[in-house]
Amino acid sequence: MKVLITGSSGLIGSEGISHFDAQGAEVIGVDNNMRADFFGPDGDTTWNLERLKERHPGFRHINGDIRDRQSMLDLFAQEKPDVIIHCAAQPSHDLAASRPFDDFDVNAVGTLNLLESARRSCPESPFVFMSTNKVYGDAPNNLPLDELETRWEYARPEDWAGISESMTIDQSKHSLFGASKVAADVMVQEYGRYFDMPTVAFRGGCLTGPHHSGAELHGFFSYLVKAVVNEIPFRIFGYKGKQVRDQIHSRDVLAAFDAFIAAPRPGAVYNLGGGRENSASVLESITLVEERVGTRLDHTYVPENRAGDHICYISDLAKLRADYPNWDVRVSLGQIVDEICEAALSRRASAA
Ligand SMILES: NC(=O)c1ccc[n+]([C@@H]2O[C@H](COP(=O)([O-])OP(=O)(O)OC[C@H]3O[C@@H](n4cnc5c(N)ncnc54)[C@H](O)[C@@H]3O)[C@@H](O)[C@H]2O)c1
Repeated sequence: MKVLITGSSGLIGSEGISHFDAQGAEVIGVDNNMRADFFGPDGDTTWNLERLKERHPGFRHINGDIRDRQSMLDLFAQEKPDVIIHCAAQPSHDLAASRPFDDFDVNAVGTLNLLESARRSCPESPFVFMSTNKVYGDAPNNLPLDELETRWEYARPEDWAGISESMTIDQSKHSLFGASKVAADVMVQEYGRYFDMPTVAFRGGCLTGPHHSGAELHGFFSYLVKAVVNEIPFRIFGYKGKQVRDQIHSRDVLAAFDAFIAAPRPGAVYNLGGGRENSASVLESITLVEERVGTRLDHTYVPENRAGDHICYISDLAKLRADYPNWDVRVSLGQIVDEICEAALSRRASAA
């Protein structure tokens, strides 16, 4: 089996390289380290690429740009991958506002380039797209909420399980990033429905793991741990720090990809996050990390929330669990905290 992964030096893409290499697949990664261009030194993924090359000698890395239509068409025609995992992205709300062309060119046009390349060269190959819960814009914020001591919480029992795929993606504030991902998400669905290709859009909650190049503008948990471990001042943006996100480890994300690849449903859409059990507010997350590392975080509060940010977002995983009963969230929030802290502490030790 030949697997082509875009964004292969990033969090999910790199997990994909390790995951499919361990299965004995031929793995090809496409990444141009644009994360460093987006986020500066914190976002530089070179360390992760070097780690992959060392651990997976069979892995082929292509310093390619998904915006380059002709080179993607040529690459797919030459390689005809059996599986496509598309994780390359401009992933930040805030950055999109200052670089709208780059954001849309990468997220929307880049995705179209890959879909059309796949349709021309390997239309039978499962095409897995990593979408985002930001396609729902700020519509989840319209649900009635209760303010608890350390977190916001859904007020009605019927919302307890979280946000399902039936939440509207229309007529709400998305941020330009959310809007460019909507374009990609709908296009991925359309290639499934219109051309009957085995495509899927996984709408991610907070995806995390030790191989994230966390930056203030993206990669909340990874950056939080980096801030605690390296004593970097940290800013909390709005909602009293009680905003809730659900954390899912990149291994559990890959397990969901596996389930889909084994039994694809064309044009499918699934929410993919850690669910209620792995949910924590920013304040709760800070406490968890401080307790694990044994250091206090130097943090300040900025009253203005990030545009389009969710107040309480928990992924309802019922649809994914129903379609793929062997899949579930296996890595707990405690394990996630342990793994990311351990990696950050050992990186600090080796830098010293
Ligand atoms: N991490 C999260 O919390 C989260 C949440 C929801 C959705 N997602 C989505 O999941 C996907 C993967 O996220 P991630 O956290 O692994 O992101 P990441 O930023 O760690 O990885 C993305 C990779 O894509 C590369 N890239 C960017 N532009 C490129 C281009 N033009 N050509 C080739 N490569 C390019 C970057 O260099 C980076 O290595 C993204 O689509 C993101 O929007 C992430």
